[in-house]
Amino acid sequence: MSIPFISAEEAASIIQNGDNLGFSGFTASGTPKVVTVALAERAKELHAKGEPFKVNLYTGASTNDHVDGELARAEAVGVRTPYQGHPDARKLANAQKMNYFDAHLSHVSQDLRYGFYGDIDVAVIEATEMSPSGEIILGAGMGMTPTIAQMAKKIIIEYSSYYRTSFRGFHDNYVLADPPHRREIPIYKPNDRIGSTVLKIDPKKIIGVVPSNASESIKPFTAPDEVTQKIGDNVCKFLAEQLRLGKIPKEFLPVQSGVGNVANAVLYGLGENPEIPEFVMYTEVIQDAVMDLMKQGKCKFASTCALTFSDEAMLDFMDNIDFFRDKILMRPGEISNHPEVVRRLGLIAMNTALEADIFGNVNSTHVLGSKMMNGIGGSADFSRNAYLSIFSCPSIQKEGKISTIVPMVSHVDHSEHSVKILVTEQGVADLRGKDPRQRAECIIENCVHPLYKELMWDYLKLAKGIGHTPHTLKAAFALHQAFQETGDMLQTDFAKYV
Ligand code: COA
Repeated sequence: MSIPFISAEEAASIIQNGDNLGFSGFTASGTPKVVTVALAERAKELHAKGEPFKVNLYTGASTNDHVDGELARAEAVGVRTPYQGHPDARKLANAQKMNYFDAHLSHVSQDLRYGFYGDIDVAVIEATEMSPSGEIILGAGMGMTPTIAQMAKKIIIEYSSYYRTSFRGFHDNYVLADPPHRREIPIYKPNDRIGSTVLKIDPKKIIGVVPSNASESIKPFTAPDEVTQKIGDNVCKFLAEQLRLGKIPKEFLPVQSGVGNVANAVLYGLGENPEIPEFVMYTEVIQDAVMDLMKQGKCKFASTCALTFSDEAMLDFMDNIDFFRDKILMRPGEISNHPEVVRRLGLIAMNTALEADIFGNVNSTHVLGSKMMNGIGGSADFSRNAYLSIFSCPSIQKEGKISTIVPMVSHVDHSEHSVKILVTEQGVADLRGKDPRQRAECIIENCVHPLYKELMWDYLKLAKGIGHTPHTLKAAFALHQAFQETGDMLQTDFAKYV
């Protein structure tokens, strides 16, 4: 059966108002780059004629400007899940002009298969190789692709000629059976392959193939600064100590690392610390830092959902692709993040907080409780089930006008029960085995910035003797309120609450 080449505009024309769309990829990697641009144009034209046009977007994780950026600016997004990191999409979500709901990345594929969100009307899948019988080699990101390919009624392939070397062999395509027929996931080591290198798609569902040669357009992360570097050092010193104490096995354990500047600095720290042995990763995303660590021989293997390399690093990767062939395996998000595997492998999970409270609850998504940043991503998939769950963040933000450690978080993503270790540039709070009052003392002593220490002790004094978790509800958000009223949390006056 021959599958026709079609233009991006022709592809976009088959998408209807209200359709549920599934996209390949994870972060910008492996995400479509041309059909969605044409779709945004179509939406704008229809809006100009007064006609409604919105589509619902289901993706592996965040996407790129071609998807979240273009469609958000066209105000063409109805429902959006699970993770977005684009400023224009964030704006739409916070203006309540898009129905964004934040979900654990490992849940969305199965929730789609369970029928919780309806059908996938159209899937747009980036391919780097394709046979007439519908065998596809994906690109630099897996995300939910095997599930959306299985579910979609119609499929558009974006055939990318940007990848100048074959990606064959890097993917592990696998779809879980659903309850009551689900079995264990047979991954016992991060490099165990369980699925197929190719994604098999029913060719009858493929409407057409749209050529593309766009790069992922990923910018390199900011180089670690003094603060993020100190956080990285603190995490590494802590891990080295745990090794010496035998609380981490001498072989070390697979590492998961989150997203953002802090996560990047922590990884570079692992590379530089001579006490940290060579390690492997079981994670959802690898960035430039991991490529560097592989070249240094420090990171031996990474199971991931995507290669989120900057354009520069991606070219380097493609030039040296044979070096990486036995060092990387890309899996669907529901496997890379699966609690069963995370628990079995015993991961050291390192994720980032926006704010944490003195009892160990973490907010990674909502600024001042209501403004969505990106989403929970896979952080809870990992942290809840890890051998050791570490959260880190700088102790202050915005030149000290914000303390990231507060009496009570303004939104909870990770409860005190999932957070074992909290790290800032000030130090490390080991929360294991401590009751709430002990946790509060440990966090204030080790993690709070000197500017805010006295305020935190004042809060604890104010709440002294009140129940198991000492809180005084009228003052629990005093720092947030002071910031809203004066633009500076340091203006908090607990005397008002005595
Ligand atoms: N209150 C208000 N603003 C805050 C804040 C707080 N408590 N903490 C951080 N910010 C602001 C910073 O000032 C910065 O603002 P700017 O962009 O205007 O400079 C911005 O938020 C980002 O802060 P930064 O310290 O650079 O964060 P990061 O790049 O390390 O990312 C998260 C941190 C939490 C946003 C990011 O890790 C994330 O999205 N996590 C959730 C998903 C996840 O953990 N996935 C992991 C599995 S891979």
